[in-house]
Amino acid sequence: MNVLEAIAARRSIRKFKDTPIPDETLSSIVAAAAQAPSGKNRQPWRFVVVKGGKRAEMVRVMREGIAAAKARGEETGSAEWTAKVMEQAPVTVFVINPKGMPPWLAHSAGQMFDDVVDIQSIGAAIQNMLLAAGELGLGSLWMCDVFYAYEELCKWLDEKGELIAAVALGYADEAPSARPRKPLGEVMRIV
Ligand SMILES: Cc1cc2nc3c(=O)[nH]c(=O)nc-3n(C[C@H](O)[C@H](O)[C@H](O)COP(=O)(O)O)c2cc1C
Repeated sequence: MNVLEAIAARRSIRKFKDTPIPDETLSSIVAAAAQAPSGKNRQPWRFVVVKGGKRAEMVRVMREGIAAAKARGEETGSAEWTAKVMEQAPVTVFVINPKGMPPWLAHSAGQMFDDVVDIQSIGAAIQNMLLAAGELGLGSLWMCDVFYAYEELCKWLDEKGELIAAVALGYADEAPSARPRKPLGEVMRIV
């Protein structure tokens, strides 16, 4: 597959087989992520790979966070559904900006600027992960519903910084069609 074909073939996968992923494959995927461009080449990322017996703990913590949010009367969107995907996927990779701060803390203008740049860099790294996973025969899901259990997961992961997203990885057990996109004319303007 060339790059354009790989971009077009990628789908969010929410059903996985329980076949384990070899560690070398995981290393190749994270290495692809780490090759992304980054503002000032800061490489503002850490990837925490959760697999095996730790998955059940991770899902328990995610569900505790969702329950706590509900108890506070907060909306939890599709978080329970996403927790089910995490339960099924053989691997979840958490992506953290070690120099970032939790979004609800006050940021100075300089911190905001760095944060916006770093988040773009991390987005590029995550997209590299998804494309590398596809090339290696794996399905993936980019997940921000982990924010519904933000503090609980950060504490459990024992990582300092800002949790940006998580990515579920596994051999796909579904083959969804392409989800709709806005027509190009709606999102592009040539001047
Ligand atoms: C930043 C980001 C966060 C997302 N968070 C979730 C999530 O928490 N749970 C989920 O099921 N899908 C999540 N998705 C997947 C989107 O729903 C999906 O990309 C979109 O519907 C388009 O489908 P496609 O990826 O198959 O093209 C996320 C995608 C992105 C880019």
